[in-house]
Amino acid sequence: MSEQDDKPQSEAVPSPPTEEASSARVPEDKNTAGRPKFTGKNAIELKDVKKSFDGKEFVLNGIDLQIPRGQITVIIGYSGTGKSVLLKHILGLVTPTSGSIKVQGQELTEMTEAQRTQLRQGYGMLFQYSALFDDMTALENVMFPLKEHRRGQMKKSEMQEVAKARLKDAGLDPKHFNKLPSEMSGGMRKRVGLARALALDPEILIYDEPTTGLDPVLTEMVDNLIVSTHNARKGSTSVVVSHDLYAAFRIADHVAMLDSGRVLLYGTPEDFLNSEIDLVKRFVAKGVRKELTPKEGEEPLRSTE
Ligand SMILES: Nc1ncnc2c1ncn2[C@@H]1O[C@H](COP(=O)(O)OP(=O)(O)O)[C@@H](O)[C@H]1O
Ligand SMILES: [Mg+2]
Repeated sequence: MSEQDDKPQSEAVPSPPTEEASSARVPEDKNTAGRPKFTGKNAIELKDVKKSFDGKEFVLNGIDLQIPRGQITVIIGYSGTGKSVLLKHILGLVTPTSGSIKVQGQELTEMTEAQRTQLRQGYGMLFQYSALFDDMTALENVMFPLKEHRRGQMKKSEMQEVAKARLKDAGLDPKHFNKLPSEMSGGMRKRVGLARALALDPEILIYDEPTTGLDPVLTEMVDNLIVSTHNARKGSTSVVVSHDLYAAFRIADHVAMLDSGRVLLYGTPEDFLNSEIDLVKRFVAKGVRKELTPKEGEEPLRSTE
């Protein structure tokens, strides 16, 4: 399905989620299932994480990475350098061969599977393909995680209210709420995917190549949506895997570049521009386009926390 079928005017500049929509997290403590709010400095901490699937080659070979709470961290790197495997570790879907992974202060590797499942409810995930259910409407897609995890805690009408609020947060016009994915444009499907990721009021948002394969207009829409979503949810932490350096520099507070299963460089976008590391220089030279130089009077797009 083509991702090009969006109206550029309406999709390019999404309005940020309104106060009204964002405050409609009804009912707050019900929907977070009593999760205590984490207030530590780092949302995620990896120490010397190694992973070998076959016992020989290490896909992750000593990852040290701290992901500050309340910020947007972008992970970049060439294809096959372990970015998705790293995310799967953070999600607790893959167990490291050695090393420590702390999420909100809790050691993942020491948790039971039930605890990890509980922890994953605090994550919102959006992948390259929004992976919506084809036979469900936009609203039903967003209600799905609520039905799965909030049964018995929320009434159906409350779930519906939350789902609608999340769709509004993600910038979908209510007239599309009852459409099937096949009746929606690529941009709308991304918004529904994001709304579904937000359904359980996550504190940590994880995006794996959310703009890969999109045209420039949609890419900008999704990048803007990542930032506006982050800024509308105070204290939330966003982790974005991207091969698009330009986007990384536009949206990131911090950037980590992976190479050979390690963090080659961690720093601000400026640190990357000034780096003397050969591989970083080559990646930057390849990725930096003219647009990177902000036009006069243009504010760089950054998170506000
Ligand atoms: N379940 C798995 N079993 C074996 N090898 C894997 C598995 N998942 C990923 N890999 C390997 O790990 C390496 C890194 O993959 P990945 O994290 O997907 O790269 P990328 O940086 O492009 O996201 C690749 O060589 C891939 O083949
Ligand atoms: Mg990947």
